[in-house]
Amino acid sequence: MHVLTVLDHPDPASFSASVAQQFINGARAAGHSVELADLHAEGFDPRWSMADIEGEGDAIPSADVAKEQQRIARADAICLVFPLFWWGMPSMTKGWVDRVWSWGWAYDQLDDPDQSLQRPRSGVLLIPAGARSDEMDDAGYRSALETAWIKGTFGYFGFSPRRLELLCGSTGSSKRRKALLEKSYQIGLDLAPPQWSEGAG
Ligand SMILES: Cc1cc2nc3c(=O)[nH]c(=O)nc-3n(C[C@H](O)[C@H](O)[C@H](O)COP(=O)(O)O)c2cc1C
Repeated sequence: MHVLTVLDHPDPASFSASVAQQFINGARAAGHSVELADLHAEGFDPRWSMADIEGEGDAIPSADVAKEQQRIARADAICLVFPLFWWGMPSMTKGWVDRVWSWGWAYDQLDDPDQSLQRPRSGVLLIPAGARSDEMDDAGYRSALETAWIKGTFGYFGFSPRRLELLCGSTGSSKRRKALLEKSYQIGLDLAPPQWSEGAG
C-alpha cells in the first residue's frame, strides 16, 4: 500500500514527530511505500477562505488544496498525527481537514456519513494526549472523540477501516513514552488494508 502520514507539529523534536516517525518505520518495515505531509514544515495555510468556497464541487480548488488532494488520491492508507488540544484538533489539522476534504470532492451526502465520494482508505488517528487513559474514559472524552471523528468526520471521507488511538500519558515517564512509540511502530507494521464494506472501529 501507499501510506500517507500527516503530521501537525512545529517542533521536529516533539513527541508527536517521533510518533509519526515510528509509525512510518513500522509501515516501511511492512513493505509499504511511505509519504509524509509535514504541515508546519511545508507552511500549509489552515485558514478556510473565500477561495475555498469558490473552489468547492466541480470548481478548481486552490493550488495548495489541489496538492493535498493529489497526495490523498495516491494514498491507500492515511495516518494523522496531531496532539490533542482542548479535546479537539489543533488549528493546523482542523484547517487541513476543513480545506482539503471539501464538499463535492470528499463527500456530498450530509445526512449519510458512509456516502463518501472517495474510495475506501485505511485510516488511523495517532493522538498524543496528556491525560491518563482512565480520565479519558471516565469523563467521556474518548466516546465523544470516537463519535465526532470516527463516526462524524472520517466516516464521511471514506476511511474504512478507521482507528482512533489516543496515546494517553504522552507527557508521562520515559517508560510510558517509549511504550507509546513502540505501539506507534506496531500500528504502522500491522496496518489493515482498505475495506469496501463499512468498518468503523
Ligand atoms: C494548547 C494545548 C492544549 C492541550 N489540551 C489537551 C487536552 O485537551 N487533553 C489532553 O489530554 N492533553 C492536552 N494537552 C497536552 C498535549 O496533548 C500533550 O502535551 C501532547 O503530548 C503534546 O504533544 P507533543 O508532546 O508532541 O508536543 C494540551 C497541550 C496544549 C499545548
